[in-house]
Amino acid sequence: MIETENLTRKFGDLTAVDNLTLRVDKGEVFGFLGPNGAGKTTTVRMLCCLITKTSGKAKIGDYEVGSQENALKIRKIIGLVPDNVGLYESLTAYENLDYYGTLYRRTDSQRKESNEYFLKLLGLWAKRDALAGGFSKGMKQKLAIARALVHNPEVLFMDEPTANLDPEAAKTVREFILDLKKEKKTIFINTHNLDEAQRVCDRIAILNTRLMAVGTPEELERSIRGRKTVIQLRQVTEAILSSLKHLHVENLVREGNKLTVDVENSEEENPDMVNAIVAAGGRIETVTVLGSSLEDAYLKLVRENAQ
Ligand SMILES: Nc1ncnc2c1ncn2[C@@H]1O[C@H](COP(=O)(O)OP(=O)(O)O)[C@@H](O)[C@H]1O
Ligand SMILES: [Mg+2]
Repeated sequence: MIETENLTRKFGDLTAVDNLTLRVDKGEVFGFLGPNGAGKTTTVRMLCCLITKTSGKAKIGDYEVGSQENALKIRKIIGLVPDNVGLYESLTAYENLDYYGTLYRRTDSQRKESNEYFLKLLGLWAKRDALAGGFSKGMKQKLAIARALVHNPEVLFMDEPTANLDPEAAKTVREFILDLKKEKKTIFINTHNLDEAQRVCDRIAILNTRLMAVGTPEELERSIRGRKTVIQLRQVTEAILSSLKHLHVENLVREGNKLTVDVENSEEENPDMVNAIVAAGGRIETVTVLGSSLEDAYLKLVRENAQ
């Protein structure tokens, strides 16, 4: 549904997005994760045809990003919840939605139906006649989401949808994202919040100007090196240490009767270590795998790139 190939955007000497190649399938909730300044907003602006690309390709559905003609077609099938919400503060919640509906040339009855549907869905129906200017941040954000959906787009881009929200409002927004997923919408979410990406996204791309990694949260976690296996023994002996050394284990650390070893593939390496210890007469009390979390993976990737 969304495809890019070597998509690049420069601002003068600064490369904000560097040769980004990725693919988002229809119906996927895709997290675009990266620290501030990583190029997330710039990418979304290019995909939404709000700024031009410097080089590379991008495609939304069947339409190549780049021509004026396609920009109009793309805008019809996408919705954007921008990073700065930008509502008409002197219009009511209902009027804000209705105005957007008219921009998209929705008929009176289509607008009436979708305005009511979304205001009810987001718990704003009772506030429909209140001015958006008086809304809390959470309510404004919800209204911005509703506004991005009034023309029933196939793809929804959300730029940091829960930034600046209190935890409860953020939770409502996340639950709403999961509801939209049930409607088979393709959702592209910019976030610098790893926990959020992990909770709502099918796949996550980690961006730091360049694409650092992409995969399901589980895949990203697994792909990261630096896991450790901790083996608690009844008694560590020279025979055990020597047999482990024969396995060429990495970074063997001994603390009392506890051994810690770096492993790349615990499923392969742990049984060999266990066999070696048992063969050397050792008695194993526990074997624990310390998996590095996605957070470790994320920080590692982002730091590596910064160097
Ligand atoms: N209009 C612009 N002019 C110059 N530099 C920009 C402009 N927009 C973004 N940048 C720069 O591009 C980089 C990426 O910014 P942005 O896409 O906003 O990152 P993110 O959304 O991940 O925080 C930053 O270094 C930012 O300062
Ligand atoms: Mg941004």
